[in-house]
Amino acid sequence: MVLQKYENSLSNGNILYFASLYPLHMQLFKKRVALQQTLLNSSGTIGFVPTMGALHAGHTSLIQKATHENNLVVVSIFVNPTQFDQATDLQKYPQQLAQDLHIIEKINPQTLVFAPSIEEIYGDQVSSDNYFFDGLDQKMEGASRKGHFQGVATVVERLFRIVQPNTAYFGEKDFQQLLIIKKIVAQANLSIRVIGCPIVREEDGLAMSSRNQRLTSAQRAKASVLYKALCQAKEIFQNQNLHQANEYVSNLFELDPHMELDYFAICNEQTLTLAEDIKQQKIRAFIAVKLGDIRLIDNLAF
Ligand code: PAJ
Repeated sequence: MVLQKYENSLSNGNILYFASLYPLHMQLFKKRVALQQTLLNSSGTIGFVPTMGALHAGHTSLIQKATHENNLVVVSIFVNPTQFDQATDLQKYPQQLAQDLHIIEKINPQTLVFAPSIEEIYGDQVSSDNYFFDGLDQKMEGASRKGHFQGVATVVERLFRIVQPNTAYFGEKDFQQLLIIKKIVAQANLSIRVIGCPIVREEDGLAMSSRNQRLTSAQRAKASVLYKALCQAKEIFQNQNLHQANEYVSNLFELDPHMELDYFAICNEQTLTLAEDIKQQKIRAFIAVKLGDIRLIDNLAF
């Protein structure tokens, strides 16, 4: 009933009060001006969690941390068209705003949710701005998904300028994205603290992802192999060497016709250049695998 009422009112007005059983009503904003007005009238620190919705426990861990550390929390839900290089991936991206609002409200009923339209963010020009990331955006996810990080950077900088948070929370699940966002903040000289948060996993080790919803049960059963491969490679890396760890992972995926290894890379965690020896300080392995048309990524500190 409550949801129905909320959904009916979705298309009207700038601010929508999410009717609920809780004494404090969660606010949903479609327009940035309305959100900014509310933020101007409040005091204390602002924690910001940008998302594309279809929320799961990975997202909620960020919202919980933001709630714990700030007076006010803003969560954005916006499926950003400019970061998708495949039209079908964008079309199939799960959207479930009403359910997401329920999830957020259970964690923190005072959250301000910003769910703008594409026009609100991009006007009539749905394209990315130009960023220079010194090669960081050319590797791994950047190499496999043309223009992806330009799109991510564009939307995150625009959201940062709208929300002006003290702290923004991102998952290490998208570790390369996290580095790119730290770069934007440094380059644009924004006074925002960017916090990386640990990867939340399913019981079998599969990193939580909104895309997991699209896996068939057969694909889902196989999907935990990404994490298992990372763990096994870590062991080989530590007990044998880097070459054998790489070899192990490429052989593992060659055996399975239903999974295609996009990349496996053991890298320096700060520069994302390929690691050369085990004495290098901070090393992390990254993996991307395609199961049918669904692409999954994961990473693990070595
Ligand atoms: P989305 O994939 O919705 O993820 C939103 C945030 O949740 C990101 O910081 C992501 O790293 C984090 N996250 C996702 N799965 C996680 C997991 N299993 N454990 C911990 N954190 C996890 O990332 C994006 O959206 C977009 O690129 C965005 C930054 C919102 C820009 O459009």
